[in-house]
Order: sequence, then C-alpha cells, then structure tokens
Amino acid sequence: WLKYNLIENSELSDSYSKITNSISISSESEVFKNLKKELSLALPKILNNKTKFQNGFTNETTLLIDTFKNLPTDLKPKIQKSIDSVNEEGFIIKSIAFNNKQLTIITAKKEVGLLYGTFKLLEFMQLHKPLTDIDVVDSPKIQLRMLNHWDNLDRSVERGYAGFSLWNWQKLPEHIDQRYIDYARANASIGINATVLTNVNANALVLTPMYLEKVEALANVFRGYGIKVYLTARFSAPIEIGNLETADPLDSEVQKWWANKASEIYKRIPDFGGFLVKANSEGQPGPQNYGRNHVDGANMMATALEPFGGNVIWRAFVYSEHDDTDRAKQAYDEFLPYDGKFKDNVVVQVKNGPIDFQPREPFHPMFGALKKTPLAMEFQITQEYLGFSSHLVFLPKLFEEVLDTDTYQKGKGSTIAKIIDGSLYRNKITVMAGVSNIGTDINWTGHPFAQANWYGFGRLAWDPYISSEQIADEWLRLTYNTDDAFVEPVKRMMLTSREAVVNYMNPIGLHHIFDTGHHYGPGPWVDNLGRPDWNPVYYHQTDTEGIGFDRTTSGSNATEQYAPHVQDMYNDVTAIPEEYLLWFHHLPWNYKLKNGEILWDGIAIKYQEGVDQVKTMIKTWDASKSYVSEQEYNDVKMLLQIQLKEAQWWRDACLLYFQTFSKLPLPDKVEKPT
Ligand code: GCU
Repeated sequence: WLKYNLIENSELSDSYSKITNSISISSESEVFKNLKKELSLALPKILNNKTKFQNGFTNETTLLIDTFKNLPTDLKPKIQKSIDSVNEEGFIIKSIAFNNKQLTIITAKKEVGLLYGTFKLLEFMQLHKPLTDIDVVDSPKIQLRMLNHWDNLDRSVERGYAGFSLWNWQKLPEHIDQRYIDYARANASIGINATVLTNVNANALVLTPMYLEKVEALANVFRGYGIKVYLTARFSAPIEIGNLETADPLDSEVQKWWANKASEIYKRIPDFGGFLVKANSEGQPGPQNYGRNHVDGANMMATALEPFGGNVIWRAFVYSEHDDTDRAKQAYDEFLPYDGKFKDNVVVQVKNGPIDFQPREPFHPMFGALKKTPLAMEFQITQEYLGFSSHLVFLPKLFEEVLDTDTYQKGKGSTIAKIIDGSLYRNKITVMAGVSNIGTDINWTGHPFAQANWYGFGRLAWDPYISSEQIADEWLRLTYNTDDAFVEPVKRMMLTSREAVVNYMNPIGLHHIFDTGHHYGPGPWVDNLGRPDWNPVYYHQTDTEGIGFDRTTSGSNATEQYAPHVQDMYNDVTAIPEEYLLWFHHLPWNYKLKNGEILWDGIAIKYQEGVDQVKTMIKTWDASKSYVSEQEYNDVKMLLQIQLKEAQWWRDACLLYFQTFSKLPLPDKVEKPT
C-alpha cells in the first residue's frame, strides 16, 4: 500500500505539486529524517517531479511540517483549537491562508504525529482525494497498537505462513536489512507503534546479552518510526539463563534478577516497551508452578519494569487438561477473582473469543466482566484456522464484528471497542495486539490479499470504529487500482470472503473441528489425542440424536459468564443469532431453523454456500484481470483455485463424517462428494 503510483490526471497532479512544491522541515532528528526520506521517495513517483526541501519556514514554503511549538508565532492561533483536541500521537493537516498565500501545514504535539500526518497526506494523494481545503484532525484511539510476532530465534515462525522470521539474528546487530526499515515504514503508515519480536512460547535466550545487543539494533531502526520494541519473557528465565534454582515470583533473588534484567535492557534500549508473558498456559512455566497466582507473577515483573516506565502484558489464554470444566469457561474463572489486583502497568491480553482464533467465535466473556483491569484485545492476523496464506479471507470483517459486539456489561452500548479503547471503564493503558502474518516472503504475507489483514489491523487499532468496508476500499485503491469498476466488485469479494470461510469450515457455530496440530484441513473425527480438550469430537459433541455443544444452563453453563441480557439471548434457542447456535446448543438433526430447513439440511447447505461463494470470488477476480498486472492476476487466481479445492474438501469431509451420525441424505442443493 506504499506503492506510490504515478497520478495520470494532470489537474490533480498539478494541484498536488503546488502543495508540495517547497517543503519546510526544521529538524534533523531521526523522525524528521525518515519523513523526509518518505516524501523524497513518494512524491517523485506520484507526481513525476523533484521535491524541494528547505530548512525552516520561508516565504517560498508551500508545505510546512513542524511540531506545534515550533510553528511561526502568527500561525499558532489558527491551529490552537485543533491542537488542543489531539492527543500525544495525533496530528493536524490543514490548508490555511497565511501571508497572502495558501499554506498547507502538518503539525502535531510530538514528532511522531508529524510522521503519521505525512503518511496520511501521501495516502490521500494515492487515494486521489482533493487537498486544496484539507482539514484533518486525527488521533489514535488506542495507545498501544501492537504486532505480536510468534518468531523463534531459529527464524521459524509459529503459525507463520509467509516464510521465515524477518529478524536475521545471525547477522544482527551489524547488518541492518532494508526489510527492517520497510517493515517500520509500513507499520508507521498505518499507525502501528509497538512490536513484540519473539514468540509467546518464549525462548529465554533472547534475554541474554548476546541477543539483547541485536534487539537494540532493531529498536534503533524502529525508534525513528515511532515503534517501541517489546520482548516475550519466559517465566523460568531466572533458572535457565540466570543460574537460580527457582523462578518463584515471591523469592527475593528472583525479584532481584528481573529488576537487574530490566535495568540491563533499559540501559541499551531506553524506550523499551516491556514484556509479553504466556504463563501457565499450554505447558509454559508460570507462577502456579510455585503455588503462586497470576497476580503474583505479573506484579513481580511489573515491579521490575516500573522504574523505567515499562509494561507487562500478561496473557489470559489459559486452560488446563487437569480441569474438566468447559475450556471456554476456564480463563474467565481463573482471572475474574484477580480483577483490580494487578499493578497499574499490567494489562491482561485476551483473545477475541474464548477458545482459539476460530473462523467465528462469540466474544470472550472476560471483555466487560473485568471492570478494574485494563484488557488488551488479541486478534490473530496470521490465518492459523482460516486457511493459512492459501485462502483469501479479509479479516477486518471478523475484527469489526468483534469490536462492534455489545457485551451489555455496563448496560446497552458496552461494546468491545469501548472496552478496548478505555472509554467504558476509563482504564489507563489501552492495547490492541495482532499476531503478525509477516515473514520473509517476497510479498511479506504469503497471500497478496493477506497484506490487507495487516493493513486493516493497523487501521482498526488506530480507530476501532471504522468500517471494514472503508478499509477494503482504501487498501484496494492503494495497492492495486483506483478505478471504481475494479474496486467495487473486488471489495465485495473481500467483504464476503470471511463468511465464505465460516461456511465451508465451521458453519452455524461449529468450531475447532480442524485436524490435529496444523489446524489446516478438516478433522472432526479426531478423538484420540493425549489431551481430551484438544480433540475435535469434544467441540461438536455429535451423536445420532444431534450436534452441538450445550453451553446453556442445561449444559456447561458457559452462558453464565456473560451479562444477563446476553445470557438470556444465548440460552434461548429462538433468540440466539444462528451463527452461534451450535456453539451454545446441542440440537436434534431435525431441529427447525428460522428459514424452515431442518438442522442437518441447514448445515449441509451452508457448507455448499461456502463453496459457491469461493466460485463467485473466482469469477470476480477473473473479471478484474485487466486492472492488475498479469503476475498479480495469476498469483491470486492460482490461490483461489486452491481455496476452491479445499472448500470442497472441507464440505465433503465434514458432511460425510457428520452423515454417519445423522443418517440423513444430502439436500438436493448440495453437490455430491466425488
Ligand atoms: C494457539 C496456537 C499455538 C499458540 C497458542 C497461544 O493454540 O495453536 O501455536 O502458542 O495459540 O496463543 O499461545
């Protein structure tokens, strides 16, 4: 989306040239250098002319980029009101009559706002928006807009489908790959301001001096783009790399070890963000190994980071094979008693749904229920359960659905977006995290359209209220072509792609019926794993009578974890939105759906609909051939063929398996498996 295509419309191009004819920049700081570099790269490409830069404001200046405090004194009153309304990372782009001339200004409280403003101006140009009367006042609504890389030190990426990890630990710290810089540019252009470099299943080695030197080199690149570096911290690190015998958070030696580690890191990286921690989850070590709890563990690390302004992001992705409670209930049960007990610099990071990044889940019941603890949203951008990088699935549609959901925890209107951006409970730290889908692939993300998921995540982390439709529209125009005849149908294709994957993988509330380990293809029949809570049969509970997981009052009662209004809705089979039906209800095969179909037919028809939607996606892409390059066309076309084959595979495998229980024929509309 930073392609900077030439603008062929000369009227538009001339008007942009007038504005960017003479650009005044006053400082040589890293941020200023980077925004100047971006303009020098972009403007000649967009406008086919050379850009003139000046030191400080002069009579010739047409575009002035400076922090508010450095603006010419006579100019300040014209901007004062706007500047008062933006936050520390916000910016203003304004066209103003000044000294009998028209001047465009990009200003902000801090330099980083200027960077965001510059990218916004370039975005507007790429979108062919009029700039003559531009008046933009914008601030991010969430403080930490963060990528979580699940990258290992050997450069493999857990659940990564776009090549290897970008971080070339072997060549660091000396060798700064251009890709680190391009990565930072791409992130800054959409407002991402934090990155966790390493996997949540952490290797403690990254905290040793040899690696910290390399982390420092990356932090030095990212700083000039407003991006702070975080690391995952393995809870048992004091034992593994510190020669201690315990990692007990109440042990004073352990506390000292973490305090010293924090101080060592901050000496190298003064703006280090902090630690992301996966503790007592899926076999990872944690405070419970020592009879302590999440608060003991998180607060101990928070105390170590506190003097330096660092944060602990403590994950709530916990469930245990020793607990026979419904897995969907365990995190809430475990964390609710600790609400309000964490230190101020702790945030608890919660996945969007209570199981694990399924194509569709109801929202995680912790959202809104913990009222005194800041909760971070954890989305997954990498498509672990959504066809990896082979399937085209536009995730902002999923993110939007979650963010717009009303938890009713503080009455009607208690949406997840309001919980995450802090406006509902006024929490001090706000975070949205996305598990990255970026790797060494030539196009960064494996599937060309998976870039839209990175882009869209960033846009929603900046403003969780914008629509997925707007995101798709912008991304297509920036990335491929601004012609409406291309954008409109391809946008529709993107917007239906998420429902398509739900239909051909997990319709009507089915979930976690993926084959073992890789989570790619179907495996609803799997029933022999070491942990029962990893077996797909646990999740669909199919028998000759029917299908679905009873999580209502007659079953696991997971519904009790939601606010009363939501409980009532989910418990009532006639009130629950049908997309969550089998998540919460076990129903007979001949149960009548709202459209009159029996459940068995309804499931089968949904699987078919998913396949048909992919067929339509292929038609749409075929019709777009003339708007993209041959290579771009072929690349996506081949991937869509894989998607079709696999949608059919999902349909056939799941229906043939479920049919051994339902013993009912497939409805006519459904293609018969070959
Ligand atoms: C999923 C994923 C794991 C990951 C885990 C987590 O279960 O399959 O690879 O480690 O989530 O979020 O911690």
